[in-house]
Amino acid sequence: MDTLKDLRHLFPVTQRYVYLNHASTGPLPTPAVEAMISFIAQREGREEAGLESWDERVAKVRGLVARLIHATVEEIAFVGSTSHGLNIVAAGLDWQAGDNVVCAETEFPANVYPWLNLRRKGVEVRFAQERQGRIPLEAIAEQMDDRTRMVALSFVEFFTGYRNDLAAVSGLCRQNGALLCVDGIQGLGALPLDVNECGVDFLAAQAPKWLLGPIGIGFLYCRRQRLPELDLAMGGWRGVVEHEEFFRYDSGWFPNARRFEVGSLNYLGVTGMGASLQLLLDAGIERIEARILALTDYLLARLKADGYDIITPHACRGERSGIISFVPKEDPETLTERLKAAGIIVSARGPYIRVSPHFYNTEAEIERLIEAVR
Ligand SMILES: Cc1ncc(COP(=O)(O)O)c(C=O)c1O
Repeated sequence: MDTLKDLRHLFPVTQRYVYLNHASTGPLPTPAVEAMISFIAQREGREEAGLESWDERVAKVRGLVARLIHATVEEIAFVGSTSHGLNIVAAGLDWQAGDNVVCAETEFPANVYPWLNLRRKGVEVRFAQERQGRIPLEAIAEQMDDRTRMVALSFVEFFTGYRNDLAAVSGLCRQNGALLCVDGIQGLGALPLDVNECGVDFLAAQAPKWLLGPIGIGFLYCRRQRLPELDLAMGGWRGVVEHEEFFRYDSGWFPNARRFEVGSLNYLGVTGMGASLQLLLDAGIERIEARILALTDYLLARLKADGYDIITPHACRGERSGIISFVPKEDPETLTERLKAAGIIVSARGPYIRVSPHFYNTEAEIERLIEAVR
């Protein structure tokens, strides 16, 4: 098995930038680019269509997604974005006026609007209060009552990098008869997640951040037991078993999550995401997590030594992720522009600078950032 260091050459971005912005958009690694170029060449007629038919490739990538989150292929549907996946869930459940959904105050809006859209059905959306960058279990519990049908939360919060304890949240959900729906985009690819161990009912994520995949492709996980509870808000020809028997019209929906795939898939996106997933899974998600936490340990120590206020909760490793946000000593927008001119890419998020390294980054790159922000 390659050491993680040996994989750095698969990231041409490292030749141009100190790229520390995976919470915004991850760069495509070479294998993903090559796989997509080959697909485009086939589509243009320059290359023979590979032996592997498109649908076989889709099946293989579905398997990789399932492996990533410890689900089964029956529980995975391809979607275009996190929002797309979350909306399939929001639109599919049988809501009653007076039901409520508990979100968190500092959630990225992708996991808020699908629930706000239910207000027209009389569903109330409540917000658990963030405390010092964390969303404490008690804050979620305070918002729950016997009409709470869903808790909708991120695996990792995009602003602070706080890693929610999904197993504890799902325990709370079970006690109260609620379901747990997770936006996985800021954690998957960087941190391990077992949807069974964590009691997740639904999860959606798009590929282009930590999963290092293309834009416009992602997946929805729907726990097997929940499939019968989710009505099809949209029905389409690719969602039925015998979709090549064009004039049947009575073919049944797939008994699995494929029923949510209404039309032809984004094969180019699936191809690129598949190559990136293969790279991540071969590298080992646990090893990737350990490397990211070592890099962010280093970053935290250097920031602290220079007296910065760090807003990312970091009392223990279990609440950390690949995101570290801190208060810079100058205007964040001006600083990110200045850093960009020096070839260092991070994000300004409100009053903070958000730094988000992946496994192929180095301590030397963190050092360059530290020198440049001074
Ligand atoms: C937590 C979180 N969820 C979702 C998204 C994106 O949502 P979508 O995949 O629907 O574009 C982002 C960032 O762009 C994010 O930070």
